[in-house]
Amino acid sequence: MRTFLKTLKRTVAVAAVAAATFTLQPLTAAHAHDHAPQTRPGASVVGGTPAQQGEFPWMVRLSMGCGGALYTRQIVLTAAHCVDGSGPNTSITATAGAVDLQSSQAVTVNSTQVLQAPGYNGTGKDWALIKLAQPIDQPTLKIADTTAYNNGTFTIVGWGAATEGGPQERYLLKATVPFVDDATCQKAYGGALTPGDEICAGYLQQGGVDTCQGDSGGPMFRKDGAGAWIQVGIVSWGQGCARPGYPGVYSEVSTFAANIKAAAAGLGG
Ligand code: ARG
Repeated sequence: MRTFLKTLKRTVAVAAVAAATFTLQPLTAAHAHDHAPQTRPGASVVGGTPAQQGEFPWMVRLSMGCGGALYTRQIVLTAAHCVDGSGPNTSITATAGAVDLQSSQAVTVNSTQVLQAPGYNGTGKDWALIKLAQPIDQPTLKIADTTAYNNGTFTIVGWGAATEGGPQERYLLKATVPFVDDATCQKAYGGALTPGDEICAGYLQQGGVDTCQGDSGGPMFRKDGAGAWIQVGIVSWGQGCARPGYPGVYSEVSTFAANIKAAAAGLGG
């Protein structure tokens, strides 16, 4: 039986990806530290196109090399594997308000606190909240609190690598990917998938479109019944990026919605 490299790292580990050692490599906080954020100009979402300024106004770039979304104006929802634990933390910066990270319009705010999903151990539960020192004056992204939207076509966005092993992007990229059901996703990933905690998306046969290293923590979303964006996933992991047969794996937001809501309230909204 073949196992695979579970690339939960928040930024590209070129050698590890190239070596494709096919061993399961669950992420720990210590492991996350092994990889310095990359800020080279150049690559995000594989198979994407540039987002328009203001198109995804709740999208945030985090300084450790991850994405996130404004859950409230002062709380960013991201991935657990993007942070090191819970508690006071003033070392993270969140950049918002611009598709171009080098734009003079971009607003940068420091963190004050981090809440990593309780019980997170590298398998499932890949969500975290970051409280900001000041609110960011941008719209927020609501989260799915039922499974009603865990189907259809999803939008993915990020400043991560645009090719497997590639550098990080300066400009936000976007793409769309279809839902992949748990049974199909488990055929690709076996026991590495935690179906209740994770939702898969991608073009199973052809690949070519996916999130990639540096997109982690960012939202996967779609339109709800009223035509408003609603977040259904958080970029978590995958075998390489955009490979045929290996969909992207996202935290299933609906599973954690009540926990996220309570945790955000605990952080003071
Ligand atoms: N874990 C990666 C990150 O930290 C995201 C990988 C997503 N991979 C994928 N094939 N969809 O940025």
